[in-house]
This record gives sequence, C-alpha cells and structure tokens, in this order.
Amino acid sequence: MPLICFASPKGGVGKTTLTANIADALQRLGHRVLAVDLDAQNALRLHFGVPLTDRGGFVSELLQGNADWRSHLRQTPSGVLLLPHGAMDLRGALDLAAALDRDPELLGKPLREMLAEPNLVVLADLPPGPSQALALLAPLATMVIGVLQAEAISAALVPEIESGRFLGTGTMAALLAGRLRVVLNGVDLSSRLSRASAEAVARHLGFRMLGAMSREETVAESLACQRLLLDHAPESRAASDLKEVARLISAALPPTMAATPPTPEAALAPSAAPLPQQPTVEASR
Ligand SMILES: Nc1ncnc2c1ncn2[C@@H]1O[C@H](COP(=O)(O)OP(=O)(O)OP(=O)(O)O)[C@@H](O)[C@H]1O
Ligand SMILES: [Mg+2]
Repeated sequence: MPLICFASPKGGVGKTTLTANIADALQRLGHRVLAVDLDAQNALRLHFGVPLTDRGGFVSELLQGNADWRSHLRQTPSGVLLLPHGAMDLRGALDLAAALDRDPELLGKPLREMLAEPNLVVLADLPPGPSQALALLAPLATMVIGVLQAEAISAALVPEIESGRFLGTGTMAALLAGRLRVVLNGVDLSSRLSRASAEAVARHLGFRMLGAMSREETVAESLACQRLLLDHAPESRAASDLKEVARLISAALPPTMAATPPTPEAALAPSAAPLPQQPTVEASR
C-alpha cells in the first residue's frame, strides 16, 4: 500500500506540520491513514493532541525487542491512526542507530508489514537531513515529498533535492529522484524575497513541484493548541493550500486506493479494518 515520506535536507521547514495535517486532510477525503513518526524529536504526536507527558512509542521500543507496531497504534480523534516515535535519550538514539546499521530489518520488517495492510495510506515523518530511516524508506516509497521553504538557503538546496543525491547514490539516486515531489512551505506573498524565491523554485521544478503553503500564524497556533489546522482554522488560506496538496496526493495514489468519502452510515459503522483495537488518544491521557 502507498507510502508517502516527508523529508528535507534542511531542518525546521515544516515536515512534521505537513505530515500531520496532510494525514488529516487525506483522512477527510476518505482514505484510511496511518501517520508514523520516525524522528527522535517525537513531535508528530503533539499535532494529534497526545499529551507531552505521554512518552510511549514505536521506534523507541525497537531496541527492547518490541517490533510489534500494532501494540503502539493510537486511534486519534481525527480518525488518523498514529504511531508515535516515543521518547529517547542520546544513549538510546546512538544505540538504535548502531543497531539499525547492523540490522536494517529491525525497522524494515515492521514497515513492510504496515505497507502490506490493505487500504492503508502510510505517511512517514522523517528527521531533517540524511538518516537511516530515509535510506530505508525511500526505495519503498510511492512518493517522497521534499519540503522546502521559500527562502534563499532552501532555494540553494534545490539541486540537492532534484538530483536525488539526498535520497541515494549513483544509479539509485537517479531512480529515486523520479518519485520526488516538492512542497514549498511558508510562502509569504507580502514579502518580495519570499515571493521571488517561491517563483524561481516553481519555475525551475515544473511538474515536480506539488504545491505551496502560505506562511500563517494559524499554522503555528494550531500546533500550540495541539489541534489540526483543518479544525483550528478551516477557512484560512493555509488550510485551503493544505487541502489542495492533499487532493493532488490522493489523485496520485494507485486507483485501488480511490478515496471513499465517508457517508453518515460509514461514520457510525465499526471500521472494517483488520487492525486490532487501538487505545484512543483520550484514553491515554
Ligand atoms: N506554513 C507555516 N506557517 C507558519 N508557521 C509554520 C508553517 N509551517 C510550519 N510552521 C511552524 O514552523 C515550525 C517548524 O515546523 P515543523 O516542526 O513542522 O518543521 P520540521 O521540518 O518538522 O522540523 P524538524 O526538521 O526539526 O523536524 C513549527 O513551529 C511550525 O508550527
Ligand atoms: Mg519535524
């Protein structure tokens, strides 16, 4: 089943924000969505209302030999299924990196199990820059969304992104570059520089540019309130940008994954999903 990864050579550009909110927007379009946090910052959960004090998760448990991802699933109020990363200290992160170097299957096996789930769109939030998770996921991905910001450094990183060097080396880089699409985040139309860099990047990337999202206080606010943007500011320009990006992703999914808009009956019916019962975010509070 489809895997959409959110990655970037540069940090702080909006990967986690987009993963969470596009997961929500895809769910609203009728897809069944699993959002997986593969970044040790463990921040994806905050967009879905999981309390700061709730530190459990999937990746942080891998070293304890618990690769049963289903036991870490959260059913969020948005309807999106969530696999939080889990909190990790420096020692844990270094040990996990070494273990993944020795045995990439530690993460590869559960990921392939997730992708084998029928009718599930998996969205993965990755750490900034190159990572073991990106190296492992890029060959499995249907689409890698490179997130850039409308400013000079991001514009300078475009060749890095489009060559695929950021995803692999040699022939593999060229192969993986084909599944890369870019979302330009934080576009400020009132700023000459932001507008000019956004236009230059769009002109250069052509069809590889999937969409653009405006810079807006509501986006940062929604995270501060631990809410999703489509709940917090549904009428904002950023919300409409987000819906457009989600629509394009939905249209690019394999035909078997066609969205089925939820009917009132379906909303009341128990899920036909084979996944076991998951704790709800409310229950974990
Ligand atoms: N379009 C936007 N308008 C305003 N603020 C935004 C926008 N997108 C993201 N932000 C804010 O920018 C900050 C960084 O966003 P986010 O954490 O999603 O980036 P990231 O790429 O995941 O960072 P990291 O590389 O550290 O994982 C957050 O405070 C978020 O609320
Ligand atoms: Mg992030």
